Amino acid sequence: MSGVLVTGGTGTTGRTLVQVLRAAGVQTRAASRNPAAADPDAVRFDWNDPTTHGPALDGMDRVFLLPPVESVDPLQSVGPFLRRAQRAGVRRLVMLGSALVLPNAPSAVEMAAQVRAQPGGVVLRSSGFMQNFLRPHPLAEHVHRHGEIRTAAGDGKLGWVDARDLAASAAALLADPGVDARSDYLITGPHGMSYPQAAEIILAQTGREVRVKRITEKEQAAAYHASGMPTDFAAALAAVERGINEGREEQVSTAVLELTGRPPRAFSEFVSDHPHEWTQ
Ligand SMILES: NC(=O)c1ccc[n+]([C@@H]2O[C@H](COP(=O)([O-])OP(=O)(O)OC[C@H]3O[C@@H](n4cnc5c(N)ncnc54)[C@H](OP(=O)(O)O)[C@@H]3O)[C@@H](O)[C@H]2O)c1
Repeated sequence: MSGVLVTGGTGTTGRTLVQVLRAAGVQTRAASRNPAAADPDAVRFDWNDPTTHGPALDGMDRVFLLPPVESVDPLQSVGPFLRRAQRAGVRRLVMLGSALVLPNAPSAVEMAAQVRAQPGGVVLRSSGFMQNFLRPHPLAEHVHRHGEIRTAAGDGKLGWVDARDLAASAAALLADPGVDARSDYLITGPHGMSYPQAAEIILAQTGREVRVKRITEKEQAAAYHASGMPTDFAAALAAVERGINEGREEQVSTAVLELTGRPPRAFSEFVSDHPHEWTQ
């Protein structure tokens, strides 16, 4: 048997990836802590429970790896999984990484290096997801309730990508394990965009007015923590906004076009694809 194990298979990127692969006729197993009962090829998988890792990998020759979310030390659980995957004969492993390097999470950098060093290992370093503007993401919840984006990123720009394009890029690498691939891709949308520019696009497309409130990094860390994130992760994520503010994260690549044959979606297209999100 062969097929693709999709960890985080019920999340924003994973569930789209599962759909795309299955539509292409690829055997695909969706893994998460709460597998959908209605999905016959879903499996329980928990990063914190290594006894679930072997059964999830069983018979699979490709893996989409979504590391533990909201962790500043993901390598602790991913390291043993990588070694197990290699022993199980996995030929292609595509990890969802981030273009934004968290300042206090050295293990994430080491984890990406270990994936690249593995035969068939590929890291997708993704820019910010446009889907952060959809509920239940805290950014979108705040826009919906208060008509406001709170940010420490100022006018700094990010190469926002639609997670559907990220999933399509991963699918291109996983559908055919023989396809030529580099070990690292920076995945972005078509251009850099600041929060004030996002607010302008939302207003122009939908008529919904969204204010941008500039806050400090410390205030952002407190807000992330209040939304349920662990303290260290909230602080790291807030610190990333400093880099955006200073213009250090404005990177754009052509990887989506290269991998999928289609240009990535612009934010305006994303906004008009989700009209219900901007109602008052
Ligand atoms: N949002 C951004 O702007 C952005 C940008 C770049 C990179 N990223 C990366 O993208 C990742 C999030 O991806 P996403 O938005 O597609 O996912 P998501 O929507 O947050 O979903 C997370 C998935 O992982 C599963 N999961 C959560 N905890 C788990 C655990 N302990 N063990 C096993 N599975 C677990 C969830 O299902 P269950 O709850 O059922 O387990 C779900 O399927 C983050 O790690 C982040 O680093 C995000």
